[in-house]
Amino acid sequence: MAKRFDGRVALVVGGTSGIGLATAQAFATEGAKVMIAGRRVAEGEEGVSAIREAGGTAGFVQADITQPESVAAMVARTVETFGALHVAYNNAGITGTVNLFVEDADLVMFEQVMAINVTGTWLAMKYQVPAILASGGGAIVNCGSVAGLRGSPGCSAYYGSKHAVLGMTKCVALENAARGIRVNAVCPGLVMTDLVEAGFAGAEAKLAMLTARIPMQRPGLPQEVAGAVLWLASEEASFINGVALPVDGGTAI
Ligand SMILES: NC(=O)c1ccc[n+]([C@@H]2O[C@H](COP(=O)([O-])OP(=O)(O)OC[C@H]3O[C@@H](n4cnc5c(N)ncnc54)[C@H](O)[C@@H]3O)[C@@H](O)[C@H]2O)c1
Repeated sequence: MAKRFDGRVALVVGGTSGIGLATAQAFATEGAKVMIAGRRVAEGEEGVSAIREAGGTAGFVQADITQPESVAAMVARTVETFGALHVAYNNAGITGTVNLFVEDADLVMFEQVMAINVTGTWLAMKYQVPAILASGGGAIVNCGSVAGLRGSPGCSAYYGSKHAVLGMTKCVALENAARGIRVNAVCPGLVMTDLVEAGFAGAEAKLAMLTARIPMQRPGLPQEVAGAVLWLASEEASFINGVALPVDGGTAI
């Protein structure tokens, strides 16, 4: 039976864990050849093995999204390995501290969050766009957040970075609208992954309060975000461009 991404090559940046890994697995299940990119070699190789054991096609490339040479090499390696690049999901991101008012927050933390979430997403698109154009077109999905749609005290670095991701998504969508690349973003609400557990360490009461505020009364699953990424990247979303799609159980309403 034909699958949605048969014959397509998908690159998942920050694909070694959490939402990224779940998305890489979902792309492979739907027939894509998947390149997982990330910093952690052992976790990346584990992800590749899991995909291959399930009958899919995957490779791993070590990449640090904050370094231009590394991002350029990541895209080049994907094209060398699988012959093209059609779809990219830019998932890499960190929260930094989420419980300090701006006067108490640390500049080094702020710069780290911006380097990965903002510069990293920008660099990824910078090198992905030419490769996707050369492959005949496709789609980019960036990982925003409900943090890009509103404010919250104590979270200026992370929320600021995700607003930037959504701004860049709209600009690059417009740049490529007539060139055959759609660019959209998913905006997950609370999804239980390692990033969330680490980000809320010491702030468990806040985590419980945030869960209680979700209209569906539960955090999301990484697979539920993956489902939205695949839809945005697929032909089913062929006239959807520049959107920031909440995947949040109704939180952003
Ligand atoms: N989990 C949530 O509740 C939630 C909510 C909204 C948005 N998000 C976003 O979802 C994305 C994935 O988060 P997650 O919850 O799966 O956490 P995660 O920590 O499992 O995933 C983040 C990934 O980014 C990678 N990464 C970090 N820095 C990198 C770098 N310099 N170069 C390459 N890769 C790098 C990590 O190795 C990891 O694979 C992030 O962008 C995050 O901001 C998560």
